[in-house]
Amino acid sequence: MKVAVMGYGTVGSGVVEVIEKHSNSIPIKTGGKALEVSRILDLRDFPDDPHKDLFTKDFNDILNDDEIKIVAETMGGVNPAFDFTMKLLKAGKSVVTSNKELVAQRGLELLQAAEENGANYLFEASVGGGIPIIRPLTQCLAANNIEGIAGILNGTTNFILTMMIEEGMSFEEALKIAQEKGYAEKDPTADIEGHDACRKVCILASLAFGKHVYPNQVETEGITNITLEDVSYINSAGGVIKLLGQIIYINDDEIAAFVSPAVVYNGSQLASVKDVFNAILVRGDAVGDVCFYGPGAGKLPTASAVVADIIDCAKHTERKKIFGWGEGAEDYVVDYKSSIKMPFYVRAKASCTKINSIFDEVKYLSRQGQPSDEVAFITDIMTENELNEKLSGIDVINTIKVTNY
Ligand code: HSE
Repeated sequence: MKVAVMGYGTVGSGVVEVIEKHSNSIPIKTGGKALEVSRILDLRDFPDDPHKDLFTKDFNDILNDDEIKIVAETMGGVNPAFDFTMKLLKAGKSVVTSNKELVAQRGLELLQAAEENGANYLFEASVGGGIPIIRPLTQCLAANNIEGIAGILNGTTNFILTMMIEEGMSFEEALKIAQEKGYAEKDPTADIEGHDACRKVCILASLAFGKHVYPNQVETEGITNITLEDVSYINSAGGVIKLLGQIIYINDDEIAAFVSPAVVYNGSQLASVKDVFNAILVRGDAVGDVCFYGPGAGKLPTASAVVADIIDCAKHTERKKIFGWGEGAEDYVVDYKSSIKMPFYVRAKASCTKINSIFDEVKYLSRQGQPSDEVAFITDIMTENELNEKLSGIDVINTIKVTNY
C-alpha cells in the first residue's frame, strides 16, 4: 500500500525510517499488505537524503494520487495541516497524525469528515509520544466511567524539572539540552508555558467524556516560575514538582481540567517518572487506577505510534473507528479555582506568626540557606480562590498545587 508523509521533521523522518526498517515484519501485521512510502511533502530541500526522489512541495501530488490511501501528517500546527487533512479525508484517504495542536483544536470536525467519507483519522501519537493511551482509553477502558486523569504529558518540561531536581541544573541549560535532543516543539514556549500539555489534556478529556474540550477552556500554567528554591523546599516535604495535566469528572455536564506545576509526593507512581518520560494515570470506576508510562517525545518513540496507526489503517481498510467524540459546550469545563479543593505549597516573605494567624493548620518546610524572613509551607485543603483570599495581604513568592494522585 502506498503511504505519503507530510512534514519531514523529527517525527516524519522517523516514520519513514520505521516503515523501511520494518518492511519485512509489517505485512505480518497488516494481513499481507506491504507499506511503501511513495511521497514526502516538505517545503524544504533535502538534496543529500536517500529519499530525494520522493519529495514534493505540491500537496496536490498526494491528494490526486489515487494509489495513496494513507497519509501521515507530521507537519504540526493548525494551518495548513487542517486544510490538507480535511481535503484528504474528503477524498476518502485515511490520515494519521502526531499533531496534537490540530486534534485539540479541530479534532471533532476532522473525525466527522472521516466518518462521512469512509476514512479513518487516527492520532495515537498526539498524546504521550510512544505510549499507547488513545486505544487503551477508548477501547480497553471503555467499560469504565472515568473519574479522573492526571498526566505528565510533556517530555521537555519533565526533562527540565528532572535536571533541576537531580542535577541542580538551571532551567535554561536543561531547556537547551532538551532542544538538542529533539524533544521540544519548534517554539519551546508551547512546552514551558504548558500549552502542549494543555492540548493533550483536551484530547484526553474529549475522548474520556465524549465532548470536545478546547484549549481555551483549560486554565494553563507552565513551569517558568519554578525555581531551585521551590525544588529544595518540596524535596524536604518528601515530594517533587511535576507539570501535571488534570481532568476531574464532576457530572455528565461538568468537568474540571487544568494544567499546572504540582507537588507530587514520592509515594505516587507519577513521582518516579523522570527525564523525557511521560505517564498518564487514569482512574476508572471499575478498574481503579491504571498508569501508562513510556517515552513521551522523540523521533522513534513518536514514529512508533504514528506507524502503528498506519498499520491499523492498512489492516482495516473497511472498518472505521468511532471515538464517540461529540460537540462541546461553553460551560462544560468549570472554573476549578472556585470548585476543586486541594492543599497548596506556599512560599512567601512572612513570619510564622503571621501565617499561623491566617491558616488553621500548615506544615512548614525548610531548605539550606533559607533567609530568616522567608517561609514555605503546605496548607490544608481549600479552593484556589480561598487560598488567594487568605494570602491577599502577604508578599507571596510562589504557590503550587498539591495533587492527591
Ligand atoms: N514537545 C513535546 C514534548 C513533544 O516535549 O512532550 C511530544 O509531544
